[in-house]
Amino acid sequence: MDVFLTVLLILAALILLYVLWCLAEPFFLVNDKISMTRSELSGGDISKATVTKLPFIPQGSESAPDLRFFFFSDIHTEWCPVTAKRLNKAIRKAHEAGGLDAVIFGGDIITYPENAAKGYKYLNEVSACCKELGIPFYGNSGNHDCKLENAPGKSGFITLDSKAFILTSRKSDAKAYLTGVPDSGKLQRVWQEKLVCGSEYPVILAAHDPDALLHLAPDARPSFMLSGHFHGGQMKLPFRFEFNVLRTTDKFPKMGVIQGHFNINGTEVFVSRGVGCGILPFRIFSAPEATVVEINL
Ligand SMILES: [Fe+2]
Repeated sequence: MDVFLTVLLILAALILLYVLWCLAEPFFLVNDKISMTRSELSGGDISKATVTKLPFIPQGSESAPDLRFFFFSDIHTEWCPVTAKRLNKAIRKAHEAGGLDAVIFGGDIITYPENAAKGYKYLNEVSACCKELGIPFYGNSGNHDCKLENAPGKSGFITLDSKAFILTSRKSDAKAYLTGVPDSGKLQRVWQEKLVCGSEYPVILAAHDPDALLHLAPDARPSFMLSGHFHGGQMKLPFRFEFNVLRTTDKFPKMGVIQGHFNINGTEVFVSRGVGCGILPFRIFSAPEATVVEINL
């Protein structure tokens, strides 16, 4: 066979393999676990902060945290091969393993508002599972949810958008605020500088877009933050092309904060890869993720 034809066939096979993997990866839900420990907030300029990446911890490892959550984000139900049934199975498993104080959804129910009913159905299934297990189900809005009316009510979760709840440690009388900032959507972006909660307890903030931290006043920065939005890049490209060229408005990815657990000027930040796919039904080197988050106050 001629060399040119052989090279062409190899290239075609590689492209086919790539496309097949892009289509298959959205089905592979990764259940992982992190442990967040409160540290001192430095109050310095976040855009110049030294970002420390922290490791995931093994599932099933021994621990006795103050609070234990199940966190998932970005279901984008138009393209979400991970069904609510599979997510509920992961919630049940996490609850059996060590109990859950809350299930938290990080926003982006759908990509397009006309598909909202599909997203509500998905989240109502999660809500029913939480009710059965006696676990409160909270959530906040993502940038794709800003045009939806009463999405929390229709989805069966308690909204964290500009609301604050006091949670008590499972092992002491230590308390924490659980609160959230609403996402105004990308087109008419409004960033919050303040939070609605007080400052007498450490704050656990649900903020769909991690860049929210860059806009909070130094005295409003939380001890813990749970986010999504970047989809881990969704389709990872060389030289962070997806962030450096396609999504230029996102700031944290340029500082290396795309997915995972970080300490940024004392704030423990978790950025989930999310569950579904936005815009295109592909993922590459960025599998769907649902995470057990342990909090040490
Ligand atoms: Fe999203």
